[in-house]
Amino acid sequence: MEKKQDLECSSAEVVDNSSNDKFQELLQTLEQVIWDGVPLVKYAGCWLQVNHLRPVLSSQKHFKAKDTDIILSTMPKSGTTWLKALTFSIANRNVFPIDQSPLLTSNPHMLVSFLELNVYWKQDNPNLENIPSPRIFSTHMHFKLLPDSIRESNCKIIYICRNPLDQFVSLIHFLSQKNFGKDPDPIAIDEAFDMYRQGIHAFGPFWDHILGYWNAYLENPRKVLFLKYEDLKEDITSQVKKIAEFMGFPFSQEEEEQGLIDQISGLCSFETLSNLAVNNTGNMEGRVKPNLFFRKGQVGDWTNYLTPAMTERIKKLMDSKFEGSGLRFKT
Ligand code: A3P
Repeated sequence: MEKKQDLECSSAEVVDNSSNDKFQELLQTLEQVIWDGVPLVKYAGCWLQVNHLRPVLSSQKHFKAKDTDIILSTMPKSGTTWLKALTFSIANRNVFPIDQSPLLTSNPHMLVSFLELNVYWKQDNPNLENIPSPRIFSTHMHFKLLPDSIRESNCKIIYICRNPLDQFVSLIHFLSQKNFGKDPDPIAIDEAFDMYRQGIHAFGPFWDHILGYWNAYLENPRKVLFLKYEDLKEDITSQVKKIAEFMGFPFSQEEEEQGLIDQISGLCSFETLSNLAVNNTGNMEGRVKPNLFFRKGQVGDWTNYLTPAMTERIKKLMDSKFEGSGLRFKT
């Protein structure tokens, strides 16, 4: 692996990413590795798939957050799909009755777009002004890579993370099924594990991703809501209430008495979403099958895949990386 320059992060990045030459020049300065057959580059200390770098830079340059925006931030395989479904349903509960929810006919990823994987993937500077408020966008970017306007406006950030052991196992399954399960040479679990421990995976290192949002939450809990997948599994009702309050759309007593929280939780549950026809047919923008986002939806599945030695190594790594942060995961 050739060691190259690791840039300091600045979302006031001076790179003109509309200029291919400058972009290529930037690429030349970055450390690169191959991960599951895909080139990753290390930008500002964060590992990104090389084809995600340009949209990340475009979003940093052009995205203008509004105070009413809600940004969902996650690492892949941490509960993004679930959080999209829940926040969309909470924000739109007065627009669509539950039995007419767009979630019944659209995958959650088609209702809430990723900044870097959808919005700025297609265009360098799309017009997002006419999207009705509250605009909900999602991202896998590290906190420090977010466009400045997200940090500087009064928009809200909801972060969900997951026990890294389960996140890794979910990621491995996702990778083995991408390319419609026809990848002739999917990455072996041992190889992926070694890279994961070094923080080398898309949007890694996982500890920096999690700690970036954890520290931002500690600094300003009115700006950042920090959620854990395991807590949603344990008590979805209280978490849905918390999310709605944070978004600025608390449930009224009447809504609670009508059972609206349960209805939204039920609609967004793994059982409901994973059984919908829309999440079992076709493919999403020619890239992946929608059912790839619904595997088991359980806590603790890592025990079925990781050896005791692997588990011990990740636990030790977590202990050292999260030590003193006040952040703990139930394992
Ligand atoms: P598993 O692979 O462990 O089953 P993401 O949405 O960030 O890509 O994360 C995908 C993981 O969340 C998968 O985990 C998937 O099964 C799980 N998941 C998706 N929708 C869910 C839901 N509504 N409730 C709980 N888990 C869900």
